[in-house]
Amino acid sequence: MARVIDIASEHAFDSRDTEKSEFAEELLDGFTRPRKMIKSKYFYDEQGSELFNQITRHPDYYLTRCEIEILSTYKKQMAELFDSSPFNLVELGPGEGIKAEILTDEFLKAKLNFTYIPVDISMPYLKSIVRESNLRTRGLELMPIHADFFRGLEWLRSHSSRRSLVLFLGSSIGNFDPAETLEFLRHLSASLKRDDYVLLGFDLRKDIDILMRAYNDSDGITRDFNLNLLRRINHELGADFDLGKFRHYATYNVYSGAMESYLVSLEEQTVSIEATGHSFVFDAIEPIHVEYSHKYLLSQVNELAQQSGFEVVRNFMDSRKFFVDALWRMKT
Ligand code: AVJ
Repeated sequence: MARVIDIASEHAFDSRDTEKSEFAEELLDGFTRPRKMIKSKYFYDEQGSELFNQITRHPDYYLTRCEIEILSTYKKQMAELFDSSPFNLVELGPGEGIKAEILTDEFLKAKLNFTYIPVDISMPYLKSIVRESNLRTRGLELMPIHADFFRGLEWLRSHSSRRSLVLFLGSSIGNFDPAETLEFLRHLSASLKRDDYVLLGFDLRKDIDILMRAYNDSDGITRDFNLNLLRRINHELGADFDLGKFRHYATYNVYSGAMESYLVSLEEQTVSIEATGHSFVFDAIEPIHVEYSHKYLLSQVNELAQQSGFEVVRNFMDSRKFFVDALWRMKT
């Protein structure tokens, strides 16, 4: 039975309280800007994660299905990257672990010698991956790490000399703004060894109607996912948001190539958030920015590799060319 390597809880024995006050601080910072904002990492409490899982299965949200098509189509080619020497299959933010399972099943079939290492700051996701893999009892070597991504990679580098393939799938990278994206990729390349690979999911530019549908699904799950942020703030930080007085609004910015999501105040109102020690005034139709989901040109993806110390090995795309899993190697 795999044990979770718990780095996050080692670092903060009072992690719950630390997390809470950090949330309050970042919220205060975001709400005192001329354009109010909430960082999108706060979507993913237990309910938010469950709503996101539902989004990934919704017919209007094409991203997950495209990436599953890519992994299923090219898993053999991915297995062929490795010989018989042992390696680590590391996954940053595995979610339910469904996508990596496509690869681990294939790698086991090919009798490759590897350990699957999901790294996540969310313990519930890691525990459910351990449970699932025990249920399937298929001889997978599993070493989950509970940590933020770079602490996890740092730990791994000092505890294993094996080669790694690092997965960062699902277009999670699209949530960063352009400066954060480069910073993230440069930090990633600085955390890796010479022969390591990364496989990164980028959502590609496409018809605007398809994008709009994906972020305004017909069953309102994305709306609930966004409004859940306010429910979470009420619950965790003692606020009195009236969820009926805000609406979800998602739109495509044709200049930056990003879907942008907002919560828009439907009337002038004042909301108090106890943990910040402040009240906040919202004008009628004032937006709170909650998410970017950047869409890329393939040329921009290749350029990012170049700018962050990687070499493009291959771009794996689905049949409609909606999504790319970019395979990069550390430049030697
Ligand atoms: C998990 C960041 C990839 O941006 O498409 C889904 C989150 N937001 N619907 C995305 C999300 C609204 C998703 N990522």
